[in-house]
Amino acid sequence: MPCDASIPAGARAVTAVAPAKINLHLGVGDVRGDGYHDLLTVYRAVDLWERVTVSLDDDEVVVTGPGAPQVPTDRTNLAARAVDLLRDEAGSDARIAIRIHKGVPVAGGMAGGSADAAAALVATDRLLGLGLGRAALEERAARLGSDVPFCIRGGTALGTGRGEKLATLLHARAEQHIVVALADGGLSTPTVFAELDRLRAERDPADPERGLPRAGGVDPLVAALAGDDPAAVAGLLANDMEAAALSLMPALRRTLCVGREAGALHGMVSGSGPTCLFFCTDRDHAIAVAAEISEHGVAREVRVTRGPVGGAHIVDDPTGK
Ligand code: C5P
Repeated sequence: MPCDASIPAGARAVTAVAPAKINLHLGVGDVRGDGYHDLLTVYRAVDLWERVTVSLDDDEVVVTGPGAPQVPTDRTNLAARAVDLLRDEAGSDARIAIRIHKGVPVAGGMAGGSADAAAALVATDRLLGLGLGRAALEERAARLGSDVPFCIRGGTALGTGRGEKLATLLHARAEQHIVVALADGGLSTPTVFAELDRLRAERDPADPERGLPRAGGVDPLVAALAGDDPAAVAGLLANDMEAAALSLMPALRRTLCVGREAGALHGMVSGSGPTCLFFCTDRDHAIAVAAEISEHGVAREVRVTRGPVGGAHIVDDPTGK
């Protein structure tokens, strides 16, 4: 995995990686009193990684890789908040440098910032020798953001609450090959949730549904994920956020159209967008669909990935612990 975030010689440093997430099903309920929305989601970790190195050094945040200039380098950075949370809790006054290498689209609806926080939690736990278990790290993760616990856990999981309550779907092993089409610009998650509320409120109150069509239950999808038919899985994918993302960024309709016409089994917006995902039968099919999408110039960048993959983990610990 490429990483140009260099560590000063002799520094004690730990590196961890955490995966991007996609939502195979993203059902969004009404807005709650605390401003969040209840979710029913099937998360899946895919093979795009954020890489975070923490070292005993000056307090600083350095970000490299695609989209790096858009990422804050002050203490609002989600990885910095993760480091601060564990350091404060441990009563440590260690100065900790954070180096982040972006492998997940920034503001793309794939939880890149959440993956930074997940990797930072796992790496800082090791750096400071805290020995927090996975459950304790996931509890800290939930305080940092709704998607952060899943970026620690990885695999395929049912998410409820605001997305932070997880149940691993052990049998959901069906592999997927996915084309990821990055859009020009990003969408902020709260803005897309607000647009969904607006679209739903705009609907005729006499409409018994009182809103846009909503994704139903997840049982058929979970059953299909235990099998090995990519078309059956693709036919059950759903995203309530898609209408809101398309309303804010209508150009995505064309991207979806091109990917579907290129033969993808299914195309949809990833989470709150604007990244679009195209589900394919196998890797060769995904490469062919990616080439078509590139040729049409409807995406800033096109990548091929696969899932599921595991969650956040340490990749380099020079202390040898
Ligand atoms: O949890 P996180 O900090 O990632 O959420 C960012 C924002 O997205 C929240 O402040 C909220 O506006 C919106 N959100 C939501 N419902 C969720 C998750 C996020 O409305 N379940």
